[in-house]
Amino acid sequence: MRVLGIESSCDETAAALVTETGEVLADVVASQIAMHGPYGGIVPELASRAHMQAIIPVIREALAKAPGGLGGIDAIAVTRGPGLVGSLLVGVQVAKALAWSIGKPLVGVNHLDGHLLAVYLRRPGKDELQDGPAMPYVGLLVSGGHTALYRVEASDDIVLLAQTRDDAAGEAFDKAGKLLGLGYPGGPVIDRLAARGDSGAFSFPLPMASRKILDFSFSGLKTALARHVQQHGVPDDEQELADLCASFQGVIIESLVRKSILACKQEELDQLVITGGVAANRGLRIRAKEVCEDNGIQLFVPPPISCTDNAAMIAMAAAHRLAAGEQDDLSFAVYSRDPDRRRGKFRRDGSLVERK
Ligand code: KG4
Ligand code: ZN
Repeated sequence: MRVLGIESSCDETAAALVTETGEVLADVVASQIAMHGPYGGIVPELASRAHMQAIIPVIREALAKAPGGLGGIDAIAVTRGPGLVGSLLVGVQVAKALAWSIGKPLVGVNHLDGHLLAVYLRRPGKDELQDGPAMPYVGLLVSGGHTALYRVEASDDIVLLAQTRDDAAGEAFDKAGKLLGLGYPGGPVIDRLAARGDSGAFSFPLPMASRKILDFSFSGLKTALARHVQQHGVPDDEQELADLCASFQGVIIESLVRKSILACKQEELDQLVITGGVAANRGLRIRAKEVCEDNGIQLFVPPPISCTDNAAMIAMAAAHRLAAGEQDDLSFAVYSRDPDRRRGKFRRDGSLVERK
């Protein structure tokens, strides 16, 4: 079976072809980063227009790699949310039109499910066709819009354990990048600079340091960095800038890793998946590996190309739903926020007070 995946929830227009076993046959991503860069963040209206321009060429390029083109496709998968509504509509409308025209099943996918199931993608030559974890596992989804821990019991039974109380980790990286004049997005640049820096050079408070609380918080850290820059300015010296990036990044990594291990212990699971754009961070990958080894936890981190937004993960999530005999009809709507997960406020002990 070949699933055509389409993703347009944020600032990447993507299309991919994936088999039911997760083999990636084609994977095309058109990024809008250069366009949004001057604004220091994503401008939704510009994003929608850029998706309109890119969507057909991107799908054509992916299909060019399938024998039989569109006729060789067995199903179509598309991100239906969460994301920017104007952007989502572009992918969803094209996906509906294609599915209708070729009379094949259509599956609307939750973008976060895509990230969590990206671990089952197999890219020949890239990740040695490594098998993913057996469910259940703990998933840390760490991206520009989300930072959350999940218990992935089955592909249709994903329970939110905890999430950030304020900023997502990727958002903290991006805001820090802006403060330090490093451009947008800040994550990859800070990652590069931090690799040359000393993470002990500057001291920033570890957020939510309590050993019992699972949720995250990164806005205080961002404020601490802003205060530092206000008092001392952005370092002129390259080494000092690298040290500042390493110290800031180090605190984010420590928080992500500690809470993930705590989640594994609380859930009595010994497999951890880290995914989402921030999972491309080299410092996080290295530290998570060390700490998981110390705690007897098996770590799975997809290659960076599967961690950042892509359409292969959307096709993968759809393949799981199709295997369970599920598909959507052509009338489904998009959503900006995640409707399937429990949301609410966390008590001091980390338990959730659900919001209706
Ligand atoms: O998953 P993603 O591509 O899009 C969302 O769904 O949000 O994640 C994008 C986020 C951005 O905030 C970006 O700065 C961050 O991932 N990111 C990184 C790295 N690569 C991307 N953060 C830290 N280190 C990286 N190497
Ligand atoms: Zn994403």
